[in-house]
Amino acid sequence: MNICVTGTGYVGLVTGTCLAEVGHRVVCMDHDGNKIHTLNAGRMPIFEPHLEELVHRNREKGRLSFTTDFGLANRDAEVVFICVGTPPHENGEADLSAVEKVVREVASRSSSYRLVVEKSTVPVQTGEYVSRTLQIYSPGGQGLFDVASNPEFLREGSAVYDFFHPDRIVVGVDSPRAENILRGLYQPILEGKFSCPVHSSCPSSPPPTFLVTDVKSAELIKHASNSFLAMKISFINAVADLCEKVGADVEKVSRGMGLDARIGKDFLRAGLGFGGFCFPKDLQAFVRIAEKNGYDFSILREVEKINKGRIELALEKLKKELWILQGKTIGVLGLAFKPQTDDTRFAPALELIRRLQREGAKIRAYDPKAAQKTAEEIPDIFIAESPYQAAEGTEALVLATEWPEFRDLDWERIRRAMVHPFIFDGRNFLDSSQLRAAGFRYEGMGRPQ
Ligand code: UGA
Repeated sequence: MNICVTGTGYVGLVTGTCLAEVGHRVVCMDHDGNKIHTLNAGRMPIFEPHLEELVHRNREKGRLSFTTDFGLANRDAEVVFICVGTPPHENGEADLSAVEKVVREVASRSSSYRLVVEKSTVPVQTGEYVSRTLQIYSPGGQGLFDVASNPEFLREGSAVYDFFHPDRIVVGVDSPRAENILRGLYQPILEGKFSCPVHSSCPSSPPPTFLVTDVKSAELIKHASNSFLAMKISFINAVADLCEKVGADVEKVSRGMGLDARIGKDFLRAGLGFGGFCFPKDLQAFVRIAEKNGYDFSILREVEKINKGRIELALEKLKKELWILQGKTIGVLGLAFKPQTDDTRFAPALELIRRLQREGAKIRAYDPKAAQKTAEEIPDIFIAESPYQAAEGTEALVLATEWPEFRDLDWERIRRAMVHPFIFDGRNFLDSSQLRAAGFRYEGMGRPQ
């Protein structure tokens, strides 16, 4: 199948590349010439495990190409995926101007049938606007287009894995033709007929459910899923605060809860809260769209409030230990909004650093992948080349992102490098008894002293 993917961010690049890997011919288009130049030069604009090898392989096989020319990308496409950004406006609403621009281009430059697929996260009812826009701006008029919603559930850091091993593939469609096209497109995944880039032999699991709905329900599934997961995180963070007050251990509580199959163990990790470009903005957008339609989604406003409170709590904990933050040197391990990515958008680590700097603290930070992006965003920061260099001369070391390598550090060396051996584990990731035995003062989130 010939596919055009508009937008080469995390979603577009992974989707386009993985669709090429299962045999489709994909042209990825982006208005950002630098990004396209980088990709055409064989370099990656983002870090995402397994993606680079897939991009190289599929370019070599002639199934994947990159261009800034929409006309070229759209020329032979049967399916056009919209994967452009939908950043938040100041009031939390999603900015859909990039989506509209793509839709107008599709409308004005297509003379044969196109299935236009929303992949970007958009508020419910966007599909209706997309259809209307296609009709207004298309010289061919009615009947030339179908519109579908095919939300993505890819997690940064494991996006390639998730593409090949989804729990479900949701398609919101208005016509049997659109449904058939999307079923055909995902056939290799549904039937497990692909050579997996992640495993030499994939662990056996049931095939994903191919869920067909109307467009609006599919749009809602995406926002509702992300908001629900965010709610789980804030819930366990609220429980963590209670644990601290009564002397219980949130790690034990979340394990006990997660063993109930109805609750599930995932997204019950307490800590500095959620960040990234999805949860915070999707939550806000969902609250706004509900509000616009006359429903006050107050439970989600509380989820947001609890999440914002995590940074305040972290500051309190540091102040409790260090008393005055002005002039203190604090090391931060982990800057990306989660491990296995270089993405720092809405990263709790960066928010905490900004707050610490406002209090007059000096920051020494380390991250295996996100150092450069952090340096671009936060000017007055010392970026260390190793966790050990980050720890030098510090009065506290904060673990803000749980990169696996932080578990096996030479803690004796770290302790010797620090002025005051205080570890604040913002992700409850480290072995508290090992650290205490090694002479550290240790503080986590919702764990007993
Ligand atoms: C999220 C969803 O998980 C994906 O299904 C969805 O496709 C994606 O958003 C999107 O809308 O594009 P992502 O933002 O990449 O994926 O990362 P998650 O793994 O969901 O983590 C989000 C944040 O929650 C991170 O900051 C993470 O540290 C935090 N988190 C996660 C917790 O604080 N506790 C947990 O138990 C789990």
